[in-house]
Amino acid sequence: MKLAKLALILGMTALLVACGDDEPSGDDDNAEPESEVNSNDEQSPDDNDSANNDSVNNDTSNNDSANNDTSNNDSVNNDEPTGYDGPTYHDDIQPMMEANCVGCHVPDSIAPFALQTYEQVKETALASHLTMVEGTMPPWPPADDCGEFQGHRGVTAEEVDLFKEWIDEGYVEGEADDSTDGQPDSGLTTLDDEPDLTVDWGFDYTPSPPGDDGIDDYRCFVIEPDIDEDKFVNLVHTRPGNAEIVHHMIAYMAPASQSDHIDSLLAEDDRPGYECFGGPGFSDAEMLTGWAPGALPMPYEDGHGVRIAEDSQIIVQMHYNTVNDPDGSDRTEFDLFFVDEEEYPDPTELVIVPLGAYDLFVEAGDSEGEAYAEGPTIPLDITLHGIAPHMHLLGTDIYVDADTGNGEMCLIDVPDWDFDWQGFYLYEEPIELASPVTTHLTCGFDNSASNQPPGRTPEDVYWGDGTYDEMCLVYFIIDRPPGM
Ligand code: HEC
Repeated sequence: MKLAKLALILGMTALLVACGDDEPSGDDDNAEPESEVNSNDEQSPDDNDSANNDSVNNDTSNNDSANNDTSNNDSVNNDEPTGYDGPTYHDDIQPMMEANCVGCHVPDSIAPFALQTYEQVKETALASHLTMVEGTMPPWPPADDCGEFQGHRGVTAEEVDLFKEWIDEGYVEGEADDSTDGQPDSGLTTLDDEPDLTVDWGFDYTPSPPGDDGIDDYRCFVIEPDIDEDKFVNLVHTRPGNAEIVHHMIAYMAPASQSDHIDSLLAEDDRPGYECFGGPGFSDAEMLTGWAPGALPMPYEDGHGVRIAEDSQIIVQMHYNTVNDPDGSDRTEFDLFFVDEEEYPDPTELVIVPLGAYDLFVEAGDSEGEAYAEGPTIPLDITLHGIAPHMHLLGTDIYVDADTGNGEMCLIDVPDWDFDWQGFYLYEEPIELASPVTTHLTCGFDNSASNQPPGRTPEDVYWGDGTYDEMCLVYFIIDRPPGM
């Protein structure tokens, strides 16, 4: 974990204490406009969900303080002040939260508090405004001017201004409109269809981060998929068992030839699974899927899928961050939906191929380290469906582009790499890269003393799987080229 990241989380805890546990007396409640009332029945469909109330500790005290103001209740009853035409919670703020924040800010999730009700949003509004101004929330690492991705998150400058105006106007709640106050899509949703296969390692795992004050545990679990022929995975729905601690999941497929090696990894300690950080611990694994908080299930196009060979093993790499729930355990499962082979007897096979700067070297102390890789020039048209960049803790930025028969194309640009927000990005529309295609990968690293994981001093860094090794790696999700 980067120092800055740790500081952020610690800072955030402080912030929560500051805006969560304190008595709200004397804060901005008093500055509310005459009309502002919190206790209305129709305020939100979430009221009867006790988990929501738990997640922001001061709900009740907050209601109390607003309820004391009985004159307001009588006179306006939850409506905005007469003649008010500024932003209200129900018309402007709630839709904005739903579109950009609620995917993670739900109870019992990796995000530290919920943003689903008027009180929750109001209580954290100043901090929320700050994170939006700074661009840290909602987390969306790719730069907007390179690649258009599904599930894009981001607030516009106008939305941030509107949010500020809402604060300045005194958090006007406005009238709840039943048609917009649905249960938001949290990313922890269920899908209607029955999955073809559920992948599950089968027991509760309690993370055990190394060191006295460690908070990160990286663990790989090995699962034999219950299939008797090769299958094509069109959609994965990941269901984190304990969303408070699951920071990301990456699933790989191991060829049968690796099974002895995997057995030796499993024997390294007497806990379930084996320790793994940057990858599954061997190089010829193929990637199956990845998940990070807030990610919604995204199907490939109809008839497209990643092949699981019948004799392969699935390696599920989990990154746990135990800050929110130090003693918690987890059993993450994911549902696989296969390409329907009656409808698509000849599925288009997708492969997830890596390009890495395996000769990576960043000298101790170098704050502007770089690694670079160029793929082989491929004399074929390539259909690119998605992309997943990967570095470890010292990475600062990663950039991928391609020279093609149609000119140069920017494929992804992450100007401010954050290990905790790894993404598996699918393009809005697959990109056609015309022959000949040469891909380039450029990574930046900061190996100075100010950017070390806790307790570390700078050391020379090379490519490797370990926490203190580095990677400069990108996975391309492409149609399997003929002959590959
Ligand atoms: C992809 C998941 C996700 C989304 C979407 C998201 N957050 Fe967060 N948020 C988190 C997590 C996780 C944390 C805890 C700190 C961290 O890990 O960065 C957090 C922390 C915060 C904090 C505490 C301060 C801080 O920076 O740590 C605020 C305030 C916040 N989020 C507001 C928002 C707002 C407002 C939105 C929508 C505009 C939003 N978040 C969208 C996951 C998310």
